[in-house]
Amino acid sequence: MKKPNKAVLKATLVKAAARARKEAVAPYSKFQVGAALLTRAGEIIGGANVESASYGLTCCAERIALFKALTEGKRDFIAVAVVARWDQGPMPCGACRQLLAEYAPKADVYIADSDDLKTIREFTVQGLLPEAFTLS
Ligand code: THU
Repeated sequence: MKKPNKAVLKATLVKAAARARKEAVAPYSKFQVGAALLTRAGEIIGGANVESASYGLTCCAERIALFKALTEGKRDFIAVAVVARWDQGPMPCGACRQLLAEYAPKADVYIADSDDLKTIREFTVQGLLPEAFTLS
């Protein structure tokens, strides 16, 4: 099979994040976020934010996707997409940047507004958290 080009990968991953966002459980903030990780093998794992009445227990879409993927044995992530209804798209919080730096250090990061999935801003995990804390 022909390897899909980067533009196709980006668009596909952003669409997967938008699909995952539909399952967000955000009754308090009403701010629904979707994320999707892409492995080198071409697998896509989606996740969405889940909130708690004890607000601090809330977990972001990026971490839900990452925890899902890791506990399904997936590794070697090459990209992550994050989508929400936010002008120019939502930027990952500091906690998610730390987890991504640990488990997806080489990944590209694609950010889009759910109302405009075609405008995709591009970053890297390394660029979003330079000099990340690590024990190794
Ligand atoms: N949220 C995410 O899911 N990802 C981010 O990068 C930032 C914030 C969620 C957490 C909470 O459910 C809601 O957005 C409002 O902060």
